[in-house]
Amino acid sequence: MSKESLLELHDLHTHFFTDNGEIPAVNGVSFTLDNGEIVGIVGESGCGKSVTSLSVMQLVPNPPGKIVSGYIKFKGENIVNASPKRMKQIRGNEIGMIFQEPMTSLNPLFTIGNQLIEAIRFHRKLSKKEARQESVDLLKLVGIPRAEAIIDEYPHQLSGGMRQRVMIAMSVSCDPDILIADEPTTALDVTIQAQILDIMRDLNKERDTAILLITHDLGVVAELCDRVIVMYAGEVVEEGSVREILKDPQHPYTKGLIRSLPKLHGEDQKLYSIPGTVPKPGMGNVGCQFAPRCEYAFARCFKEKPELYNVGEKRTSRCFLYDNKEGDAAENAESTFGS
Ligand SMILES: Nc1ncnc2c1ncn2[C@@H]1O[C@H](COP(=O)(O)OP(=O)(O)OP(=O)(O)O)[C@@H](O)[C@H]1O
Ligand code: SF4
Ligand SMILES: [Mg+2]
Repeated sequence: MSKESLLELHDLHTHFFTDNGEIPAVNGVSFTLDNGEIVGIVGESGCGKSVTSLSVMQLVPNPPGKIVSGYIKFKGENIVNASPKRMKQIRGNEIGMIFQEPMTSLNPLFTIGNQLIEAIRFHRKLSKKEARQESVDLLKLVGIPRAEAIIDEYPHQLSGGMRQRVMIAMSVSCDPDILIADEPTTALDVTIQAQILDIMRDLNKERDTAILLITHDLGVVAELCDRVIVMYAGEVVEEGSVREILKDPQHPYTKGLIRSLPKLHGEDQKLYSIPGTVPKPGMGNVGCQFAPRCEYAFARCFKEKPELYNVGEKRTSRCFLYDNKEGDAAENAESTFGS
């Protein structure tokens, strides 16, 4: 029997029931996150990254959203139907989450210290004094200078980067097994972005916190992650180690994402962007969701849905070019993409 993962999503379907019909925002997503791992979920806007992470936390707004099938196992426990009491315990205590815009999660009416101390004391039996000391230590851990003074300040007195550090401090205050970070650096300038990524890397090393990093930016994934899951229109289209995927992407969508990364060195070329836009999940082509934008598409791609094919050790790609029925998979891809 294979070893149990810390987190396992299996064939997860989270749909929104709207006046315009049912939107399969997460459409059969499966992946694992192991102890101490940093896994990235990457894809363009609207592909289902946030709904995937909100599903794990049971924070999908219901209605209109609902997990309709599949399971999410956390340390072997299926938490899809966990009671509100159990989920409260998991959120904060066992799985921490940081959001893109920290002001939506920090209360402007309370000092940083009040909010941190409250979060710590909600989950752990510490005196106010002990929780205050712990809060100062956490602020230092996330690189906040003058932590003893900042603790008595209000969120609006801090810069965006400082607020994001406070959010990280809050989400790891109970030493969670997993930290889910949804676009934690998108609103920040590049220098601060690099510092926040460093803090997450240190947390992972020093506390062994597994991290699920959600971003539209492959550059951020390259900086921090061990493994990457590429999503498109609610589905996983490619998975593998960051090193291999960056060096040798297998799915045409991933190839496009990599081509659109700005290059620091090299000729001053116009930045590539994948033609067209991401369809709303379920509103795209009946076959491969990427077909209308794919330069390698052929007749079958518009009629049938590709499955995830194995394209190497622990590597998958949802593309007919890797289906053996189409002939030899490697040869297929090679003749299409070149070697
Ligand atoms: N409250 C909602 N009601 C209806 N549909 C929704 C709702 N929230 C999300 N969706 C649908 O789910 C899809 C996935 O949204 P999600 O927020 O997960 O995208 P994302 O990959 O996180 O994008 P971004 O990079 O912009 O954050 C969207 O295309 C949208 O149509
Ligand atoms: S299945 Fe077809 S359309 Fe889809 S990514 Fe592969 S080649 Fe492109
Ligand atoms: Mg999002």
